Amino acid sequence: MAPPWSLWPRPSALLCTLLLLPCAPALRPPPQRPSFLIIMADDLGIGDLGCYGNTTLRTPHIDRLAEDGVRLTQYLAAESLCTPSRAAFLTGRYPFRSGMTSGFGHRVLQWAAGAGGLPPEEVTFARILQERGYVTGLVGKWHLGLSCRSLTDLCHHPQRHGFHHFLGLPLGMMGDCAGAEPSEKRAGLERGLHGAGRGLAATALATVVAAMVAALAGARSRAALWAALALGVSAAILEAGSYVVGGAITHVDCFLMRNTTVTQQPLQLGRVNPLLLREAEDFLRRHSHAPFLLFLSLLHTHTPLVTSPAFQGRSQHGRYGDHVEEMDWVVGRILHTLDSLGLADRTLVHFTSDNGGWAEAVVGGERLGGWNGIFRGGKGVGGLEGGLRVPGIWRWPGVLPRGRVLDEPASLMDAFSTLVRLGGGTEPSDRVIDGRDLMPLLTGATPHSAHEVLLHYCEVFLHAGRWADRARGKVWKVHFTTPTFDPPDSGSCMGPGLCPCAGAVTEHDPPLLYELTSDPGEERPLAPGTEPAYAEVVAKLRQEHDVHHRSVGSIPQQLGSIYNVWLPWLQPCCGRFCACDLEGGAGSEEEGWGRDFLEDPK
Ligand SMILES: *[C@@H]1O[C@H](CO)[C@@H](O)[C@H](O)[C@H]1NC(C)=O
Repeated sequence: MAPPWSLWPRPSALLCTLLLLPCAPALRPPPQRPSFLIIMADDLGIGDLGCYGNTTLRTPHIDRLAEDGVRLTQYLAAESLCTPSRAAFLTGRYPFRSGMTSGFGHRVLQWAAGAGGLPPEEVTFARILQERGYVTGLVGKWHLGLSCRSLTDLCHHPQRHGFHHFLGLPLGMMGDCAGAEPSEKRAGLERGLHGAGRGLAATALATVVAAMVAALAGARSRAALWAALALGVSAAILEAGSYVVGGAITHVDCFLMRNTTVTQQPLQLGRVNPLLLREAEDFLRRHSHAPFLLFLSLLHTHTPLVTSPAFQGRSQHGRYGDHVEEMDWVVGRILHTLDSLGLADRTLVHFTSDNGGWAEAVVGGERLGGWNGIFRGGKGVGGLEGGLRVPGIWRWPGVLPRGRVLDEPASLMDAFSTLVRLGGGTEPSDRVIDGRDLMPLLTGATPHSAHEVLLHYCEVFLHAGRWADRARGKVWKVHFTTPTFDPPDSGSCMGPGLCPCAGAVTEHDPPLLYELTSDPGEERPLAPGTEPAYAEVVAKLRQEHDVHHRSVGSIPQQLGSIYNVWLPWLQPCCGRFCACDLEGGAGSEEEGWGRDFLEDPK
């Protein structure tokens, strides 16, 4: 059978010259096995990039990448949060299939020293490419677990999932690393301990009062006084703990690992981005002769937005804007390195984000999260578009058309099948793979995405789904459940933490229906009585959910409580006091960091 790429029209160069036609350069069928450079941002909003419509934030390098390749406008994270979305990206499977979910409210892995993580039986695209002879590297954030039973088993480590080389953060709770707001778990724990301490102190006081009253009435009250003393001491411990715990988390939970060795603890936030970039560039230089997979998993643009001085105060959008511009510069530099090594033509480059911008990250009136453009909601907000739509840019000069924009629904999970097939591998046949090969869509061999239906889960709960209804030429979206918004209709649950997936949610009966092609901002729900397709769409998505439901057995929830608590014996620690820096001070005065940006900020 002819490969699908051969369907792409290839006008003869001679004919073009004879007729003086402005023909695009002919696209060739893909040469054998490209290398892969995958760049994933963290919490970047789709509306932050020039190529996705931002007119005031400067992202020239990413914009150029999009001009030179294909840009997807309906590219969707499997969930609106990092751990499950990243698991799905690497495995091509909905997170509930690998157990990278919970039904308890813990939506991401909480501790480096927890037992949960991407199960060793899961197969990542990195592992398949590694088996096909690729040199594979992960630089940056992992956040998919570390150890199972003992510190040394490292059963969830990147090297157990197909990466030869790893330098980065096993856990990426960056707000906690900085000890700054917004915090992921630290502030909540501090509040919890503080509250419990106060509760015990109040009980101790009440006990003393009761004992005194009893004593006045002539009763003996020694036991009550001892109890009050014990309560008081516990209260003091909890209260002290609330001060200690934050520092302890920042110190031991944030560290760098180089392969299986902890090399920096605590993480030096001011130096980490230059260090990661240097590592990624070194990887390209070292492996320019082999087929390679480099997954550069950026810490940008997650809070706390540690930006180097060269970029501070330079954007029109405050600290967040400065940080996005720095990220764009980092992307530009790695692409420049790829080009100067002569690798561009045989490397498929993909740029994306793990989920949408964190719209609720507003501290003291300052917006620290990404901008999701016209889309409602954001990171963690159930199945709303804002948390799911991510940038999707694919560039492979000569193989993918330049400047093509596609509005077909596609999924981050599709990266799995696309990379595996291009790398000469095959998808595992012993499990369900939800991703689909994107190449036919990207090359133009087919006009439609291989996905008719995509479902949007929040933990294990189905919140929404979309159906690309080819017969009617529409993309329908149904919300069965949404978080309970405050204020109503705002698409946000302003308050500490993330929107819940269950509990404080609104079940919609009848479900809310939107038509995304004309209403991508999910502003105009269609009424069951007036939209003729209503019943069919809802039934179609329910039925698809049933199919999913039947296809999963019972698997341990990796983000469920026992797997997602701190276990002291799993705590990685380097040096005598969990303190070390074996990275040789790298990253501190990184040569040229941002200099060309200062010279030519565009
Ligand atoms: C561009 O991004 C900034 C920063 O996220 C945002 O504040 C601004 O509204 C965006 N502009 C447009 C036109 O989307």
